[in-house]
Amino acid sequence: MILSIESSCDDSAIAITEIATKKLLFHKKISQELEHSVYGGVVPELAARLHAEALPKILEECKPYFKDLKAVAVTSTPGLAVTLVEGVTMAKAISVALGIPLIGVNHLVGHIYSLFIEKEAHFPLTVLLVSGGHTQVMEVKSLEQIETVAKSMDDSFGESFDKCAKMMGLGYPGGPLIQELAKDGDRKKYNFTIPLSQSKLIAFSYSGLKNAVRLAIEKEDESEYKNIAASFEHIAAAHLTQKLKKYFKEVKPEIFAIVGGASANLYLRSQIEELLKPHKATLLLSELKYCSDNAAMIGRVAIEMYEKGMFSSMDELDISPRSKL
Ligand code: KG4
Ligand code: ZN
Repeated sequence: MILSIESSCDDSAIAITEIATKKLLFHKKISQELEHSVYGGVVPELAARLHAEALPKILEECKPYFKDLKAVAVTSTPGLAVTLVEGVTMAKAISVALGIPLIGVNHLVGHIYSLFIEKEAHFPLTVLLVSGGHTQVMEVKSLEQIETVAKSMDDSFGESFDKCAKMMGLGYPGGPLIQELAKDGDRKKYNFTIPLSQSKLIAFSYSGLKNAVRLAIEKEDESEYKNIAASFEHIAAAHLTQKLKKYFKEVKPEIFAIVGGASANLYLRSQIEELLKPHKATLLLSELKYCSDNAAMIGRVAIEMYEKGMFSSMDELDISPRSKL
């Protein structure tokens, strides 16, 4: 079995996965959303302190599995430096105490493998990762052949929902709150500009849209928020579909996947389903409970890395806030 730890942002999670069967034997996650909600976003130092409390609590429940562990895996990149350290330090301590090897996992690869929890992985596929930290399209041929072909130049898709929710005083995380508010809103009422629509570039940008939403919020009263939220959600999704349409002119994937916390967005899912219809491409999604950050996906990647002998020594394994992908 492999024990895996996730602490790259505001979720403390540990999983136990059986190597031979890929079965998830244990998974527990303690989210810090409530604690960060009053600030309208994640406060890194507070997050680190909460991980230091939550991770040992969860680990206590894993003790019965200790004798069967063959490796310990942990998210080491990308994420908040002060929170990554919490997980990596714990992983190193377990590695020393139990005399088992260490595996450092890239969180973004984790999101890709969230598609294959308790399943065989199959490639090639094109993956759109939409989370709080990232908005990028990746061509995935195998665990070690992952190429990012488009990414955001500034804010991420999920982050723009968080910021809009904060400006409306709704709380954190903004994605589900904006989605709920937008349900009864008029998606066409505010004619926000689709970012980079005049540009040939296949890239993303959300900071301009966020500013346009800010101006609308400042001008209107609260009764208009649902229409602003609906129009924002529409344009945020339209930006992705417009760029993907351009991309599909060059590359025709048979399987297209959406992963990451914001892949839970129902409007985005429906718009991408529409986009894929003429291409006859299959849409692959993670189970809803594995869209947002979790340790099951880290454990799933760790099985592949274990089988390939991709271990890190104590000195080698270091945190890196920025991903190479
Ligand atoms: O993958 P994730 O849990 O953490 C990162 O790796 O960043 O993603 C969290 C992000 C947050 O920005 C959150 O607002 C967004 O995912 N999110 C959503 C929805 N649910 C979560 N964004 C839009 N619509 C949703 N339904
Ligand atoms: Zn994530």
